[in-house]
Amino acid sequence: MDKKEGEELLPKLLQEQENNGWISERALKAISKQINIPISRVYGVATFYSHLHLKKQGQYIIEICNSPSCYLNGSMDIIKVIEKELKIKSGETTVDGKFSLHIGSCIGCCDKAPAMLINKKVYGNLTKGKILEVLKECRS
Ligand code: FES
Repeated sequence: MDKKEGEELLPKLLQEQENNGWISERALKAISKQINIPISRVYGVATFYSHLHLKKQGQYIIEICNSPSCYLNGSMDIIKVIEKELKIKSGETTVDGKFSLHIGSCIGCCDKAPAMLINKKVYGNLTKGKILEVLKECRS
């Protein structure tokens, strides 16, 4: 990433996501035009970062970590519970638009592994029971 992309493009992408919860193709084109960076490059940067979403997201965005500390503490089992309960895979949104799921890298909560974020709130020391309880709370 060059200086212009770091100083102008990334903040604009982050702002767009903050404002709308995701970044549409229309927004990518507008940003490209606004800061005079080719759309291919804008798209390349937007798809590089897993925290940037190019599809409309659900009301609750689940970002579960699968990096070493979480993996060694059973994140795969937790992921399977979420996928089964919500009937979606990573990168997908439930039909009712309630949940989006993303499996990603470390979220900086290794001491609470396995850990996840839901709309940026940390949930740690996850167990099957805890996950089901949290999802139930979100649904109510
Ligand atoms: S490895 Fe999962 S939060 Fe750091």
